Amino acid sequence: MKLNALLRGPRTLYARLALVFIVGLAVAQTLSVWLTMTERDQTMNNVMMGYIEREVTSSVALLDHLPAAERAAWLPRLARRTYTFTLGPGVTGAPPDVELSARVARSIAAGIGKRYPLTANAVPGEPDRLQVHLQLSDGTPLTIDYRPMPGAPLSRWLPVVLLLQLAVLAACCWLAVRLATRPLSQLARAADTLGPDLRAERLPEDGPDEVARAARAFNAMQDRIKMYMTERLQILAAISHDLQTPITRMRLRIDVMDDSAQGAKLQQDLREMETMVKEGVTYARTMHGATEVPCRIDPDALLDSLVFDYVDAGKEIALQGRIGAALVTRPQALRRIVGNLVDNALKFSGAAEIAVAASPAGQVTISVLDRGPGIPAESLEAVFEPFYRLEGSRNRHTGGTGLGLAIARQLALAMDAALSLHNRPEGGLEARLVLKGLA
Ligand SMILES: Nc1ncnc2c1ncn2[C@@H]1O[C@H](COP(=O)(O)OP(=O)(O)OP(=O)(O)O)[C@@H](O)[C@H]1O
Ligand SMILES: [Mg+2]
Repeated sequence: MKLNALLRGPRTLYARLALVFIVGLAVAQTLSVWLTMTERDQTMNNVMMGYIEREVTSSVALLDHLPAAERAAWLPRLARRTYTFTLGPGVTGAPPDVELSARVARSIAAGIGKRYPLTANAVPGEPDRLQVHLQLSDGTPLTIDYRPMPGAPLSRWLPVVLLLQLAVLAACCWLAVRLATRPLSQLARAADTLGPDLRAERLPEDGPDEVARAARAFNAMQDRIKMYMTERLQILAAISHDLQTPITRMRLRIDVMDDSAQGAKLQQDLREMETMVKEGVTYARTMHGATEVPCRIDPDALLDSLVFDYVDAGKEIALQGRIGAALVTRPQALRRIVGNLVDNALKFSGAAEIAVAASPAGQVTISVLDRGPGIPAESLEAVFEPFYRLEGSRNRHTGGTGLGLAIARQLALAMDAALSLHNRPEGGLEARLVLKGLA
C-alpha cells in the first residue's frame, strides 16, 4: 500500500503530521527497547556460560577427589540454581535441540570434556532441560541436570517508564505539530475575514522566521488589495459624483429648449442617468465599509414599517410570519437589503411577499418572494455582479442600473449574513437572507 493511501485517513494536516510522528517515534522506541533487551539477554547468557564452565569444572574435580562414600553428602552443596548433580546414569534422550541447552552442553564440554568423555541429551518431554552424563575416575556415573532459568524477569517499573516515555513523546509531537500548523489556521482565518469592508484581522509578524515571513507577505497583500479596492471605489465615486453637475446643467438647458416633445424624452433619459449616478455613489459608499454600528432592534417592527411604506405608495406587498425576538444587527443595512429585494420583486412581478422565520439555533431567515419570471439557473449568481442585468430586463421600462443586488450582497457580507437567490418550484423568485445574531 502506498504511503499516500495510508495517509489519506486523517483529513487535517495536523492529524497527519501527528500520526506520522507518533507512529514513527513509537516504532523507533519499540525497536530500541527490543535491541536493549536482546543485548541484555545475550550478555547475561555469556556471563552465565563462563560461570557454568568454571563452576562445573571445579565441582566435578572436587567430587572426583572425594572418597566415594562422602560424595552424596556434597551433592546438595554443589548444586546451583540452574543445575544439580546426581550420582547415577540419569535419563537418556535425544540430543539437546534448544539453542541455549546446546550452548550449556558446549560450555560444560569446554570445561571438563577433555578429562571426562561426556554425553549430553535433552530430557524427554522437556526440550530445554538438559542432562550431561560422565564417569568419574573410579567409574562412578555422574549426571549434571541442567534446568534453564526462566528469562531474567523484567523490573516492574520498566513498563511504567516505557509508557511514560511514550506519553512524553506523544506530548512533544502534539506540541510540535500544533506549533507548525497553528499559523496556517490563523492565516486561513485572516484570509476568511478579509471581507468587503476590508477590515481583516492583521496577522502578528512575530514567531519563527518562516511564519513571520508568511505573515508579513499576507499583511502586505492585504494592504495592496485594500489599496486597489479603495482606488477603484474612489474612481467610481468620483465619476458618479462629478456626473451630477453636467446632468444638472443639461437639465437646465433642456428647460429652455423649444422642442418640448424632445425635451420630455431627454428629461426622462436624464432622470435615468441621475438614478444610475446616485446608485453608483451609494454602491461605492457601501463598499467602502459599512460603517454602521450593529445594535439591538426589533426586526418585526422594522419589517412592519418597511411594508407600510410600500403599502402607502400603493404597492402590493404582504408580510408573513414573525420573528418575536430582538436581533443584533445593522438596521439601515438590513432595511436597504430587504428594500432592494422588494424593489426587484415589485419591478419584475408586480407584487412581493416577505416571509420571516426564526430557527431555534438563533438564525433568522427573511425571504422575499414573487411570482415573476424568475432567473435562469446559470445566472443566479451572476446577477449579484455590479451592473449585471438580464437581457430581458434591459428593454423594459423597469429602469435600474443593475446595482441593487450587488449592494444587497455587499451589505449582507458586511453583516455576516448570507444572501442567495432561488427559483421557486411554483414559479417566481425567492431571495433568501439568513442572519445570525438573534438575542
Ligand atoms: N425578482 C426578480 N425576478 C426576476 N429577475 C430578477 C429579480 N431580481 C433581480 N432580477 C434580475 O437580476 C438583475 C439584477 O438585479 P439588480 O437588483 O441588481 O438590478 P436592477 O434591479 O436591474 O437595477 P437596480 O436594482 O440597480 O435598480 C435584474 O436586472 C434582473 O434581470
Ligand atoms: Mg434591483
